[in-house]
Amino acid sequence: MKQLYIKTWGCQMNVYDSDRMADLLAPLGYGPASGPENADMVILNTCHIREKAAEKMFSELGRLRKLKDRAADQQGREMRIAVAGCVAQAEGAEITRRAPFVDMVVGPQTYHRLPELVSQLDPGARRHLVDTEFPAEAKFDSLPEEASPRGPAAFLSVQEGCDKFCSFCVVPYTRGAEFSRPVEQILVEAKRLVAQGSRELTLLGQNVNAWHGQGPDGREWGLGRLLRQLAEIDGLDRLRYTTSHPLDMDEDLMMAHRDVPALMPYLHLPVQSGSDRILQAMNRRHTAADYLKILDRLRQYRPDIALSGDFIVGFPGETDRDFADTLKLVDAAGYAAAYSFKYSARPGTPAAGQTDQVEAQVSADRLAALQQVLDAWQMAFNKQTEGSQMDILIEKSAGRPGQLAARSPYMQSVYLDGPRDLIGQILPVVISEAGQNSVRASLLDAKGAA
Ligand code: 5AD
Ligand code: SF4
Repeated sequence: MKQLYIKTWGCQMNVYDSDRMADLLAPLGYGPASGPENADMVILNTCHIREKAAEKMFSELGRLRKLKDRAADQQGREMRIAVAGCVAQAEGAEITRRAPFVDMVVGPQTYHRLPELVSQLDPGARRHLVDTEFPAEAKFDSLPEEASPRGPAAFLSVQEGCDKFCSFCVVPYTRGAEFSRPVEQILVEAKRLVAQGSRELTLLGQNVNAWHGQGPDGREWGLGRLLRQLAEIDGLDRLRYTTSHPLDMDEDLMMAHRDVPALMPYLHLPVQSGSDRILQAMNRRHTAADYLKILDRLRQYRPDIALSGDFIVGFPGETDRDFADTLKLVDAAGYAAAYSFKYSARPGTPAAGQTDQVEAQVSADRLAALQQVLDAWQMAFNKQTEGSQMDILIEKSAGRPGQLAARSPYMQSVYLDGPRDLIGQILPVVISEAGQNSVRASLLDAKGAA
């Protein structure tokens, strides 16, 4: 068996893509390697969302070059190196120019051609294959039906690309225009994942709630309808979706949070800023008040929903007052978790050309202040679950022997003591102790006692 090592950066979509690349190469005799040292093929699946992505990749390539040379010199063995993902898309042939030992470059929409590219590589030949074309349709049609099991909680990509063009973001350029997979294709993949033991599916898309795929009735469906349909699958107990844009949070999707018990009470809904002036400059096309109104409606349908978000501080032109508005919005919205970033100018995006860039130290101070507030919200959320009972999905062994790692309906990381054979089960627990990033729980016995 040949050994395949994949290193993945970035979002969950890249995690999904990496798994699919492994599935694509399995029929060619590639199985998982524990590290890059002995691998016959190394794939770097890269992320371009924030700065230094390309530099990180080139320094990783420098390390791989040594391994590749050693394999050739000492073992007469050829190590193939492929670069995939969004840096591959953005940099293209620049990669093989700067790192000529790279054999293949594939974009997020062309990795389904990997087997074909591998077969075109001649032993020892110094020929590079670069394939970074669009669009996504062909890819989803040619992904293999055969796939290795993904564990109790799995990702399922339903939508790709983005037409929103937020002024700071590279995604519309690296992942291309919005594309929605048709319902039938999604159902087939969902059923297969469930048959292989997955009990929770997270539907993925850069703009997942903009998904509008063709239904079996020939009509266009929205995400709410898709979720209702998926919930019918026997053995599929939990559904999530990420990442969403406020503008696409339609009524039917919000109502699904009330009507579909399998749909978990958790939503990742990035807002980026609480200042209307900055939101406009970001081309978000909604105000802070619009966002809060959406949350109000959502909470009418599902009062206990846990909210998560993304924030950018130090966007060009952001003043102290704008930043104060962001802090105000955080308190008005109430977050169970959140991700926050310093603005990073991405070449080719409109915001990168703005002349009023914020000083690095100011951004750093704002980020620290925001994170403090978000941490307090997260701790408060975890605290209020202390003493309550809920069903958790046990996903894997945790670091310590006898300890298990699970997820609560609210997406909290849960740790508990128990035997390994509980992995894959959904069991009632009581939350015994809250921490900043996780909670501890104890299993309830059949009588409901901890
Ligand atoms: N700088 C900083 N953060 C960014 N994000 C996207 N582009 C940038 C950028 N240029 C953040 C946004 C987005 C998340 C995935 O990454 O908050 O929601
Ligand atoms: Fe980027 Fe905005 Fe599209 Fe999200 S919605 S992927 S931030 S352009």
